[in-house]
Amino acid sequence: MEPHIAQKSPYVSNVEAGKDYYWCSCGQSKAQPFCDGSHKGSEFSPVKYHAEETKTVYFCGCKHSAAKPLCDGAHRALA
Ligand code: FES
Ligand code: FES
Repeated sequence: MEPHIAQKSPYVSNVEAGKDYYWCSCGQSKAQPFCDGSHKGSEFSPVKYHAEETKTVYFCGCKHSAAKPLCDGAHRALA
């Protein structure tokens, strides 16, 4: 099953050192780029991201990145 494309560009997010984040892999969350539980009943589950340092990261919005949960540029090839 293909994930829903939440948006065809990354979500620029500021993450804090030591915190865990749960990236939405299904694309259905209303709290993008993070999981809000909307995947329940599907084959999808969130992907954990542990921030080693406080910085800005680019979470994949199209849900097709091979480097989940971060954007790898794959969104540029989507129709
Ligand atoms: Fe998308 Fe949880 S809502 S993975
Ligand atoms: Fe998904 Fe860039 S937003 S690869």
